[in-house]
Amino acid sequence: MNITSDKKTDISPALLHKKMLQLLSSLWVTRAVGTFARLGLADVMEDGLADHAAIAAARGLIPDRLYRLLRALSTLGIVTEPTRGHFTLTPLGRLLSSHSPNNTRTTAIFLNDYFADMWTHLDDALAGERTAFEALKGAPFFEWLARNPGEARRFDRMMLEVHGPETPAIVAAYDFSSFEHVVDVGGGNGSLLSAVLAAWPNLHATLFDMPEAVAAAKRGEGGPLPGVRFVSADVFTTPAPAGGDVYLIRHLLHDYEDGDCVRILGNVRGAMQPQGRVLVLEAPLPSDDSPGPGRWLDLQVMLLCGGRERTVEEYAALFQKAGLHLARTIPTKHPAMTIIEAAAGSRGS
Ligand SMILES: C[S@@+](CC[C@H](N)C(=O)[O-])C[C@H]1O[C@@H](n2cnc3c(N)ncnc32)[C@H](O)[C@@H]1O
Repeated sequence: MNITSDKKTDISPALLHKKMLQLLSSLWVTRAVGTFARLGLADVMEDGLADHAAIAAARGLIPDRLYRLLRALSTLGIVTEPTRGHFTLTPLGRLLSSHSPNNTRTTAIFLNDYFADMWTHLDDALAGERTAFEALKGAPFFEWLARNPGEARRFDRMMLEVHGPETPAIVAAYDFSSFEHVVDVGGGNGSLLSAVLAAWPNLHATLFDMPEAVAAAKRGEGGPLPGVRFVSADVFTTPAPAGGDVYLIRHLLHDYEDGDCVRILGNVRGAMQPQGRVLVLEAPLPSDDSPGPGRWLDLQVMLLCGGRERTVEEYAALFQKAGLHLARTIPTKHPAMTIIEAAAGSRGS
């Protein structure tokens, strides 16, 4: 999100007008980039086509209209037009090609699909109990995913695209050497657990998530999971796997409101070894009023599943209600990842 607040008061009316029109037309950018990704145009270009008419023919599109899309995308740095009518994919544009490692094509498609449609229900979410997703699809997000395995698979893929770069930063920042049994709660397709086990192969590991995510993990979609025990269940109705001495909870708490978070943390607290640790892996909001992209993700999780982004102090308050306390926070080299470590009992007990 590159919209920053403008603290200047002497900005001219013409600039204000321009800025407002830019804000109001941001949707055009999301739609254009997402459609470029969904139609596989980056794939075709990565395969070597440069002439807009040839790219159009490969996808059954009208050359003049595709030309105009590519010309607009060149203003965003997705493609360049070195000679008229011929386009080249930039390193940024390559992130939309399914041929590129670490691509974000599924995310580009998702953010144009029901993740975009949800925003048309922002007013429902602001005024009522239902999330925007429920207003759109008639069921809470994770329940709906459980009934739509294909969508669950796509969502897991998007999680890998979005959160993948955080994984090496977490593994590099935290010393797992004193632990024997790591449990990933809401571990999705197992990408984090896979990286932890690659770095610390002597650990026993358990992955706990809903059946579809566990099925993806078993298929190896998040990477190898040697010797991992799988538990397919709902964290609200099933006790967390017992006896772990370190529990990972990455981007699960921000999906839920406070009461549900306390239930999840309390469940983990009841299962963990007395000297164990809980690692909440999130991008906390700044404790002061400095702005940041978390304010936008906060709205996205509010619309999707009634969740919220929190400051470290707000996480600490949840820990306290669940019989835990904040032990320390550990920054990582990834700007959107902090390790928020909790231990059992109240501080100093
Ligand atoms: C935002 S994703 C994060 C996945 C993974 N931890 C990561 O960081 O890539 C949230 C995960 O929590 C799981 N989840 C959500 N609600 C759950 C519940 N009630 N019980 C078990 N797992 C749940 C989802 O299936 C999903 O895999």
